[in-house]
This record gives sequence, C-alpha cells and structure tokens, in this order.
Amino acid sequence: MDKIDLIRTVPIFSELEESTVQQIVDIGLKRKYTKNSIIFLEEEAGAILFIISTGKVKIVRTDDDGKEVILSILGPGDFFGEMALLDGLPRSATVVALDESELFVINRREFIKLLEDSPQVATSLLRELTRRLRRADEQIENLSLRDAVGRVASVIIQLADESGKIRKGQVVIDDFPLQQDLANMAGTSRETISRTIHQFMRLGYVNQKGNSFIINEYEKFKNLFS
Ligand code: CMP
Repeated sequence: MDKIDLIRTVPIFSELEESTVQQIVDIGLKRKYTKNSIIFLEEEAGAILFIISTGKVKIVRTDDDGKEVILSILGPGDFFGEMALLDGLPRSATVVALDESELFVINRREFIKLLEDSPQVATSLLRELTRRLRRADEQIENLSLRDAVGRVASVIIQLADESGKIRKGQVVIDDFPLQQDLANMAGTSRETISRTIHQFMRLGYVNQKGNSFIINEYEKFKNLFS
C-alpha cells in the first residue's frame, strides 16, 4: 500500500483534504518490525506516533514477575503512542509486534502541529480516545465483576465486534489470538481458556478451523454473556 492510501485508511485522518494528507506523507517514515519484536517498552520516553500499515501489535502491561495483561490488540489503520506525546509522560505500556509489521511514524512536533492546524484530526482523535476509554471501562467491569467463563466470553465478543466478519448470523474471526494471549486479555490462565473454549464447542456455540474462530449464532451467544 502506498503512503497516501495508508493515511486514507486511518480513521482519524480519513476526512482530511488532499494537501494535508500529502503533508503527513511527506513528514512520516516507514519502519519494519519482525514478529515478536518489542516496538517500545513501558516507562521509556516517547517522541513518536505509530500508525499500523500492515500486521498487528499488542499493547501490554507487565508486572515484576513477567506476568502480562493485554490491554488491546491493534491492526492496520490503528495508531498508538499518542499518550506520551500528548502528556509528555513516559510510555504507558509496552507494544510488541504480533506479526511482521510495517508501521508509519510521525514525530511529536509534526503530530502536535497537525492537531493544532486541523480541528477534524483533533476531534477524530478525541472520538477514538473516547472509544478506547469506553472499552477500558468494559474491561474493568469484566475483570472485577465476572467469573472466568464470563471473562472468556467477553473477550471473544470483543474480538468479534472489532475484527469479526458476519455472515448469515455467524461471525468468523480470522487470525484468532493464541491461547496464552487470550488468557492475558481475560485475566485468566491458558488452561481456563482451553477448558472454556472446549466447553463452548461441546455446547455448539463455537468452532475452530485452523486460525479461524467461528461463533455459530452470534446474537444468541452475545445475549447469553452480556
Ligand atoms: P503511549 O503511552 O505513548 O505508549 C503506549 C501506548 O499504548 C499508548 O500511548 C496508547 O497509544 C496505547 N494504549 C495504552 N492503553 C491502551 C488501551 N487501554 N487501549 C488501547 N491502546 C492503549
């Protein structure tokens, strides 16, 4: 994908005029990351914004024992790294490439200038940050109020809503995360993920084919667990 097409796929930049898109393209650079490489670490100083061109990344917080919680998985068209640029504090989380990824980067000065020059970019950024806050509120509710089965179901529903393809009432999630990553999203163990998914399969709620995960009657599944 060339740089102009990439910028057009980023929701916060999608309504910009041609000349502003060209301006972003001129100031940004492409960077490649191999699978599992660390893009940056929590607590590092940060001076650039990243936009995902290809691949996926996970946003994680880790404790002193190396136990990890996944805050989000982001894919093409998503951005990250804006928080340290906006408040000047260190990076709030670690970001790791889940696949071989190509990212487009913009430095702090250019990003702030873009926000100051373009009210549409500023408003879209606030909309996306609001969406992330709503999602984080849901995660807090899930982690604090639900049992393990409910938490696993919620993570599956979240993935379906964000990246599933719906067809005849079924939702197919391609590139379904690894069981350990699901566990780190649901705040549970890999064993619980395995057991719960098998239980859902026995009940006929879901199926797995290779890397794809299928929810058979999505609305019904959603109603059962929300
Ligand atoms: P920054 O703090 O610079 O570095 C880590 C990045 O992870 C942060 O900016 C955000 O872009 C992203 N991030 C942090 N928390 C979340 C979250 N709950 N959901 C999605 N993205 C997040």
